[in-house]
Amino acid sequence: MDAPMSRAVKSVSTESKKVQERAEAGEAPPTDYIVKESQRQPDAPPPLTAPLPVVHLGQPDEAEEIKAALQSWGMFQIIDHGMPPSFLDELRDVARAFFKLPMEEKQKYSNIRDGQFGQEGYGNDEIIAEGQILDWTDRLYLLVQPEDARKLELWPTSPNSLRDVLDEYTTKTKKLVEKVLKPTAKSLELNEDFFVSHLGDKFTIFARFNYYPCCSKPDLVFGLKPHTDGSLITVILPDKDVEGLQVMKDGEWIKVTASPHALIFNIGDQMEIMSNGIFKSPVHRVVTYTDKDRISIAMFCANLPEKMIGPADELVNDMRPRMYKNLKVKDYLEVFFQRFLQGKRATDWAQV
Ligand code: OGA
Ligand code: NI
Repeated sequence: MDAPMSRAVKSVSTESKKVQERAEAGEAPPTDYIVKESQRQPDAPPPLTAPLPVVHLGQPDEAEEIKAALQSWGMFQIIDHGMPPSFLDELRDVARAFFKLPMEEKQKYSNIRDGQFGQEGYGNDEIIAEGQILDWTDRLYLLVQPEDARKLELWPTSPNSLRDVLDEYTTKTKKLVEKVLKPTAKSLELNEDFFVSHLGDKFTIFARFNYYPCCSKPDLVFGLKPHTDGSLITVILPDKDVEGLQVMKDGEWIKVTASPHALIFNIGDQMEIMSNGIFKSPVHRVVTYTDKDRISIAMFCANLPEKMIGPADELVNDMRPRMYKNLKVKDYLEVFFQRFLQGKRATDWAQV
């Protein structure tokens, strides 16, 4: 196991340039963004394209479809999710409109306050170590649930519909995720309320508006480096026109293509742990293009920080010994984020 990382090797500052500013100035990615040669795979075959499995929610085969998709991809799409296409377009439009605002306006919501990095707000990843490879992306990251823990001062008031649209999307996402988690539990032969009751009514949801500007050297950088999510389950609304998300399946990168108004669901490490490894949290990444920028909105749904998680008792037996320890969610997430920044996984740390 790795030694714990020392924090704040480099100090963050409000002066740090956004990726969007570099792209708009026609700057090539600086060395901090360039993936190390040892980690590039120049001979790797180009990513394949294969249709992302569709789950028909509410249909008799939903649990089987979820099981098949999660065991092969760790991901699926739902088309008949009940959210109107016009609503999803509006959400994408507010995301684009936010990133189009002048820098000065966006900086009002900066994730750096008084020289201190905070998890929420507009900006980039924290820089915690020399040699950390940065991603070619800017983001707005907000806790949207539990509602009473929202930091409204970081919720943009421009575009003026952003707050309302995000609030409505939160309510809709919560309901949809609960609907998805029931057949997911059943597919593991657990009580259908297993995940929903473990989460509780006001579980954690973080919203992340991702903006991936054009990049003059897309082969040398990642929009988002290969990672798994620390969530229980994540809902992604991808860009309507520009692909970019790829998932590792059977040792190969596959381009994730979804129907224009589909929502993509991928499970995160908390599901891998609770399912005792029956479902694996998929490794995924985002690539960029020279001539196309991209937005996406990810909703990370997770157990509350003070909760304990571990493999469901029903999924631990002689045939399938316990793979993960019981952990406090916030302890796991602390390790998760440190490792995420280094391009490493955290589930091995959770193993027994
Ligand atoms: C993420 C993520 C995918 C995308 O934000 O963790 O994987 O398509 N996003 O932007
Ligand atoms: Ni992700």
